[in-house]
Amino acid sequence: MNPRLHHIAIAVRDLDEALAFYRDVLGLEMTERRQVPQEGVEIAFLPAGETEVELLQPLDPGSGVARFLEKRGEGLHHICLAVPDIEAAMARLREAGARVLSETPRVAADGTRYVFIHPKSAHGVLLELYEVPE
Ligand code: CO
Repeated sequence: MNPRLHHIAIAVRDLDEALAFYRDVLGLEMTERRQVPQEGVEIAFLPAGETEVELLQPLDPGSGVARFLEKRGEGLHHICLAVPDIEAAMARLREAGARVLSETPRVAADGTRYVFIHPKSAHGVLLELYEVPE
């Protein structure tokens, strides 16, 4: 599958407050900030060397991230691996008995295909796969 670490996502209650730390104190540069209505979140990306930090704030109380914050508080939400062929990766994971959380890849606003793998299948970490052609 040739995966590489694409980003590490942190669930936060208030994106502006989180940026005051990650951007203004730590000095990471924010390259992108947008709402993702299909996931019920607003996200910001801050590149950090070969990978990026993603900050996630829920937009509505019914979203998965809102429930995560309620149950576990702020913190590490998922890690994302880039793979060259998401269909092949999903097939391999399913064959191995992993819980792939959607039948087909989801499609982001920029056309990137992605999917989530249940934490129970990844030793306690929610895993996201992004398709990034090599
Ligand atoms: Co992500």
